[in-house]
Amino acid sequence: MRKFGVIVSSDSCFAGTQQDLSGKAIVEYMQNRGYELSRIVILPDERDMLANEMKKFVEEEVPLVLTTGGTGFSKRDVMPEATKDVIEKEAMGIVEAMRMKSLEITNRAMLSRAVAGIANNTLIINMPGSKKAVLESLDIIIDAVEHGLGILLGEESNCGRK
Ligand code: MTE
Repeated sequence: MRKFGVIVSSDSCFAGTQQDLSGKAIVEYMQNRGYELSRIVILPDERDMLANEMKKFVEEEVPLVLTTGGTGFSKRDVMPEATKDVIEKEAMGIVEAMRMKSLEITNRAMLSRAVAGIANNTLIINMPGSKKAVLESLDIIIDAVEHGLGILLGEESNCGRK
């Protein structure tokens, strides 16, 4: 079973003043899809802490890390910056598709600064911080992401070309 990790970036969830709904929603969605949870980590909106957790997943060779929160315009939102500290290659098509399709649902999708990219054998994808947004985003990206992971891990050699 393919493993995945989840990182929640939220000062209030970390402090325990708010419940994490989006991280839980990701876990449930991916488990229903047949993935095995490596772990879910709730962290404050701190760039170094977020990047360090991502690096741990990369070292453990967890193939997929999904993050939620911290992609917006709030002064404390630093998830894209933390992600850029870790990735070696960008995979912006994933977040471009997420924003493009999400714009059909809400024009506020343009306010997500989410990035995606690869470090060694790990694909890291940022998603916004609400349960609604993560479920909508996963529906948009999951098929292509699965194909991409197959290529990244050397299980699929191309995109169906001979
Ligand atoms: N994308 C989808 N699919 N659905 C949503 O409801 N919310 C948007 C956007 N992307 C949304 C979405 C909103 S309101 C914001 S402010 C940004 O994501 C950033 O969210 P974040 O700061 O929680 O990361």
